[in-house]
Parts: sequence; structure tokens; C-alpha cells
Amino acid sequence: MFLEELLKTIKERRSVREFTPEKIDDEAIRTLIDAAGHAPSNTNRQAWKFIILKNDKIKARIAIAVKKKIEKVKENIEDDALRDLFVNYTKYLLFFEQAPVVIFALYKTALPFVDHVYARAGLKTRDKRDHSELISVSMAVQNLLLTAHAMGLGACCMTSPLIAVAEIKKILDIRIPFEIAALIPIGKYEKEPEPVGRKKIDKIIEIVPPEL
Ligand SMILES: Cc1cc2nc3c(=O)[nH]c(=O)nc-3n(C[C@H](O)[C@H](O)[C@H](O)COP(=O)(O)O)c2cc1C
Repeated sequence: MFLEELLKTIKERRSVREFTPEKIDDEAIRTLIDAAGHAPSNTNRQAWKFIILKNDKIKARIAIAVKKKIEKVKENIEDDALRDLFVNYTKYLLFFEQAPVVIFALYKTALPFVDHVYARAGLKTRDKRDHSELISVSMAVQNLLLTAHAMGLGACCMTSPLIAVAEIKKILDIRIPFEIAALIPIGKYEKEPEPVGRKKIDKIIEIVPPEL
């Protein structure tokens, strides 16, 4: 039964992009952040932080910063068809402003001790600076999305507004070592979005062949 419910929650979660103005109470937000904080993390560093934004004026300032960047990009597209495509895409950048709460998922970019140890041993591994921390906070975001769904709340993981990442960091006073992984608008919703397609399992699976 547990498996059935887990899979149902995973499979029925949708990215919600239209919200009612109804407020979300603080207890619900704490439940979401508690779920996020129970995600696995690199060496259990839990190198994340969640900024809860409810203030409409600050949301509007962030939306203006994103809009300015959109305009700048538009000005630099010469091809009409490409500009139309981009303009159509911009609807995916701005809807966060309508949500009663926007959660900013941050991660620390500072190196975990293990990478210092590797560096001292002269091990040239790939640049792990952000990799493990970004995966960790992404897992936290997925916990948050699934919990929101189980609570009847709509949410969407968003990275496209980070077109204005420097401005957003300034507005929210986000400093080193924190970086923004994603923003997650949260709210009640009226209409469940249609499910979008998923690749068939056989398309995303590759079984290592047995040794010859
Ligand atoms: C890292 C990441 C970034 C995303 N950024 C955006 C975004 O900026 N705007 C948006 O509308 N959706 C965004 N999405 C949501 C995806 O479009 C969505 O998950 C995908 O289309 C599948 O739909 P579903 O979540 O309803 O299953 C993002 C999802 C992920 C995982």
C-alpha cells in the first residue's frame, strides 16, 4: 500500500503554473521545508537554505528584473521566428509573481572537506564545486514538490527566472557562499494541469551487457 501511494504521489504530481490568490499558512510552509530538509545530501552537509517570499512588492521587483532581462534578450534577436518563439517561451518565466508564496532554494558553493583532501593529494577530479551540492538541493526540491502535491498545493520548480540571477540575489541579499538553485512558487489552484508525456522506460534504460 505504501508503495502504491508513493508511486501515485510521484506520478500524479504536476507543475502548477496558475494559482488562486488564497494565502498559504505558515504551518503548511514549515511542513514543506521540513520535508525538503529530510532529503539526502552530500556527506549530510545539508548545505541548503530556503527563503520564503510572501511580500508582493518584493515579488514585483523580482518580476521587473526578469522582464528587463527578457527585453534585453528580445532586442538582440534578429530573426523574427526565433523572437516569436522566445516571446512565447517567456510565459514560463513570469508566473511566479502570481503565487502567494515563492520559495527560493539555495545551496552553498563552498567545497566540502573531502574535496580539499582530494586536492591535497593532487587528485584532479572533475570540478565538483557545485555538482554534489546542487544535486543535494535538487533532491530537497523534489521532496518539497511531492509534499506540496500530497497537501493539495500547486508548485513548480523554476530556473528560467534566473536569467536575472544577479538582480534577484541583490534584491534578496543572497551572498557568498549561497547560490540560487531554483525558485518554487506555491499556492492553491483551481485546475489540475494536464499530464505531460513521459518517455517509455525502455527509452531511458540501458542495461550493461554481461561480460563476454
Ligand atoms: C530544473 C528545472 C527547471 C524548471 N524551470 C521551469 C521554469 O523556469 N518555468 C516553468 O514553467 N517550468 C519549469 N520547470 C518545470 C518543467 O517544465 C516540468 O517539470 C516538465 O515540463 C514536466 O512537467 P511536470 O512537472 O508537470 O511533470 C522546471 C523543471 C525543472 C526540473
